[in-house]
Amino acid sequence: MPQTDPDFTTFANQCISRVENALGAYLPAETIEPQSLHQAMRYATFNGGKRVRPLLVYAGGLACGGKLETLDASACAVELIHSYSLVHDDLPAMDNDDLRRGKPTCHKAYDEATAILVGDALQSLAFEILARPVADIPPGTRLQMIQILANSSGSRGMVGGQAMDISGTGQELSLPELEIMHIHKTGTLIRASVQLGALSAGGRPEQVAKLEHYAKTIGLAFQVQDDILDITADTRTLGKTRGKDAADNKPTYPALLGLDGARQKAQELLEEALDTLTHFDTSARHLRQLAGYVVGRTH
Ligand code: IPE
Ligand code: IPE
Ligand code: MG
Ligand code: MG
Ligand code: MG
Repeated sequence: MPQTDPDFTTFANQCISRVENALGAYLPAETIEPQSLHQAMRYATFNGGKRVRPLLVYAGGLACGGKLETLDASACAVELIHSYSLVHDDLPAMDNDDLRRGKPTCHKAYDEATAILVGDALQSLAFEILARPVADIPPGTRLQMIQILANSSGSRGMVGGQAMDISGTGQELSLPELEIMHIHKTGTLIRASVQLGALSAGGRPEQVAKLEHYAKTIGLAFQVQDDILDITADTRTLGKTRGKDAADNKPTYPALLGLDGARQKAQELLEEALDTLTHFDTSARHLRQLAGYVVGRTH
């Protein structure tokens, strides 16, 4: 991930290597039956994702005084839910995409049935990981975290947003309708990432509440930027097919506000996110850096 701030680069590289090692240990080995399913689960997980949601878990936890090792389980759980959502998002019945993270989509590299099952299995694994005992996280907190992840990824969260996306395709949504769709399909899991980080770290309720507002704002900004990049980035940089939203008549921010309007919206959300962190000290600096990254990223 290209960054200019060396402090952020160090943090991001450290966290990405932590979460990838932990994911490697949690995912069943490719030699375990059913082998092709286990291979496909790894294919869908280790394929060059930016790991933004794990980074938000770690940054949220550090802002509440947590330790990185306490945050690994949550970082893995949110990335597994995210990876599953991408595998299903790319299926022919959904966005019908051939390219993901610069490689053939899971159903292209394997087959459709395998891709459906990969998504199902990654999702189950995410919850299994959260249910396992972790030193320093009391069982009651773990239960609360499971509930947050379930809500944010289910029909009241990501899956609900995906349903709105499908039914809104070809329709002209109003700005509030578009915002509700974006908040659900992308924002809820991003919010859950920060919440899980803060809760794992034993964050105080007032800290968690402030971070939730940060996460809500940055979650919406993330999808606004995703819509912008679908137009402005090239397929090679993006790692997914450029121009797919317009080709499919998807409701997006640039479609409704134009490119400049969408860029302005992303900037406003960035400023709002940074404002919510004013009462945090330097321990929240990675959240500040991540907010800038989400809006400034090129893929
Ligand atoms: C893409 O997410 C899908 C959206 C929710 C907008 P990312 O841009 O985080 O994808 P990866 O994980 O880096 O591939
Ligand atoms: C996907 O939104 C959101 C998910 C829940 C996966 P998009 O359909 O815009 O994501 P990309 O552009 O295919 O990554
Ligand atoms: Mg989609
Ligand atoms: Mg898609
Ligand atoms: Mg997109």
